[in-house]
Amino acid sequence: MHIPGFLGAILLVSVLALGRPYDFGVDVEGLTRRQEDRILVGRLPVASNGSVPHRLEIRQMRADPYKWDLFILALSMFQSVSQSDPLSWYQVAGIHGVPFRSWNGVEPVPGANMSGYCTHSSVLFPIWHRPYLALVEQEVFRLANFIASMFTNTTEREIYQRAASDIRFPYWDWSLPAPPGQTHLPDVFWHPTITQYGPMGLQTIRNPLYSYIFNPVEEEAFIWSPLNSWQETKRAPATDISLASPPSMNKDVSEALLGKLSEIQQRLYIIFSNYKDFNSFGNKAWSVSQNLSSWDSIEAIHDIIHIYGGLRGHMTYVPLSAFDPLFFIHHVSMDRLIAMWQVLNPNAWMFPMAAGETSYNSLKGMVQNSKTPLTPFYISPDGTFWDSDMARYTHTFGYTYADVDPTLAGNQGLRESLIRKINIWYGSSSPVSLRFKAKGHSNFVNHHRSTVPNPIGTKGTKSEVTDHSKQGNSLASASIKGDRYNEWIVNVHANMEALHGSYAVHLYLNDKPHLNCRTIIENKVGTVDIFTMRKITGSDTKISGAVPLTSSLLGKVASGDIPHLDASAVVPFLQKKLRFQVRNGDGNVVDPNLVEGLYVGVSSTEVKIPAVDTELPRWGRPVARLNLWS
Ligand SMILES: *[C@@H]1O[C@H](CO)[C@@H](O)[C@H](O)[C@H]1NC(C)=O
Ligand SMILES: *[C@@H]1O[C@H](CO)[C@@H](O)[C@H](O)[C@H]1NC(C)=O
Ligand SMILES: *[C@@H]1O[C@H](CO)[C@@H](O)[C@H](O)[C@H]1NC(C)=O
Ligand SMILES: *[C@@H]1O[C@H](CO)[C@@H](O)[C@H](O)[C@H]1NC(C)=O
Repeated sequence: MHIPGFLGAILLVSVLALGRPYDFGVDVEGLTRRQEDRILVGRLPVASNGSVPHRLEIRQMRADPYKWDLFILALSMFQSVSQSDPLSWYQVAGIHGVPFRSWNGVEPVPGANMSGYCTHSSVLFPIWHRPYLALVEQEVFRLANFIASMFTNTTEREIYQRAASDIRFPYWDWSLPAPPGQTHLPDVFWHPTITQYGPMGLQTIRNPLYSYIFNPVEEEAFIWSPLNSWQETKRAPATDISLASPPSMNKDVSEALLGKLSEIQQRLYIIFSNYKDFNSFGNKAWSVSQNLSSWDSIEAIHDIIHIYGGLRGHMTYVPLSAFDPLFFIHHVSMDRLIAMWQVLNPNAWMFPMAAGETSYNSLKGMVQNSKTPLTPFYISPDGTFWDSDMARYTHTFGYTYADVDPTLAGNQGLRESLIRKINIWYGSSSPVSLRFKAKGHSNFVNHHRSTVPNPIGTKGTKSEVTDHSKQGNSLASASIKGDRYNEWIVNVHANMEALHGSYAVHLYLNDKPHLNCRTIIENKVGTVDIFTMRKITGSDTKISGAVPLTSSLLGKVASGDIPHLDASAVVPFLQKKLRFQVRNGDGNVVDPNLVEGLYVGVSSTEVKIPAVDTELPRWGRPVARLNLWS
């Protein structure tokens, strides 16, 4: 692209104001531009002893100074590659959504040229992102190894080359509280500039985890005002949106996501113990299309991180989200949760399903299955694309995670060791944990990870996780009968594009039905977020989500408002107290009559508490109990 001189000068000034990337003293352009026709997604090399390298939690990676330096330097280099290069950050992020341009020569199907390649509300959602992340990872790997070779001091170079040899892309585990004294969103995301060591010594550079700087921003392609005029990606820019360039408020993002932690943990616990088929687990359009009673999904949980990780910044808008460096780190975390679920359900795999949304290579309604090409990711120069069958296991790409690595599981076995962790991590606000605590399973008192040294998750953090352990035995005997208790869930479904853009159904336990005012109602128990692509497709696809109520109800048992968790006590209580409110993307209350296809109801399920902590709770059949809206 030709940029006129004066415009170039303006760009240069604004790039300087936002900070520079690391200066490697070489022409980054010449290093990255590829000559071959097709960019392939391949397999990264395993260690010389045959072991498959781990993707690390971001704080764990930071504890290794050499890997950390290489990761930051590689991102800095990646982001400074010209936007005209197919392997630039810009074009790789652009695969997901805007600028809706073909990548790697893969053309859109007719009628789909106003979408990205990403597949949402689709059976391909969980696995499509696997070769996508592998593409980003193989580029970071290549750059990190190149950077390691640039150190002139032999001793140093060898150390960095060893660190680069098994480097993998990290994840941020947003499903657990931060270690004591640390922020929930790790502080490595917070600072616009950092001081970074590298082959050219120490330099003050712009932080490649803080934002991506467009060079230039393509206003027309970026659709949403005012985001399309901002020079860089932002999180929580909402304080004064009229500013030419409002700052990112990472503190707000951190607090918002911490506020969702308890809900996320409860929802994950239910997904891991009660969702056994891949389609229900994997996407938010299957269950409602089949009239199933499994309303939640890993995709619906994933939406929370987009909405609250963006707070109306880039992460919040599906087609813009991948430009924010947080996107890939969030999706690696998703990939790990999916790999964990696969360990628990090794035989579960996808059934054919009609796409719920149009994407670049499939129109809404087209049936997709495990052989559908995961475009635009080629596995071979002959033009074969990855498909879900090929991408089913992470080791095919040359990576794994500590929690799903059988070589670390010890003689207990991988499945058992993973279930024990899931009980500890996500079961803490469930009646199941009351029973285990009563039996003296000390593991349940905190969120320690047990098999790998990991700085995440010890007690004493500012976690919102409800801990009922103080009431202990009396609460257990009131809520648990024998080895059974009742789980209570609010189920929501709605037409995805009922309103102009994303919206949310908030649930409260409250006497006063302030349903029509803007004030924040107290006693919120959860939210179902309807995350969608405004202005892009007109889709009447229904999607669903769920909010667990059991932990809140246990609190009501503890405070004496209800005697137990049985329907005879809970139904009248919910009839009196349970309220919902629909809010649009700007936070304004919307009349539920305007939300096509809206359903809000409550079901309960009898759950059997496992005898040992290497098993998960067993769920019975759900019973519909209350209909708030249909
Ligand atoms: C294999 O080597 C890697 C380092 O590359 C090391 O972390 C791992 O523990 C080794 N595994 C075995 C089984 O020796
Ligand atoms: C998409 O296709 C339509 C009609 O074929 C065309 O008018 C439009 O310019 C295309 N948009 C993009 C972004 O290619
Ligand atoms: C090379 O790096 C090592 C390790 O950092 C250091 O101990 C040594 O002094 C360096 N050598 C030179 C010549 O700078
Ligand atoms: C969906 O399932 C519910 C409960 O099982 C049933 O009452 C209802 O009739 C079903 N609706 C359709 C359209 O099958």
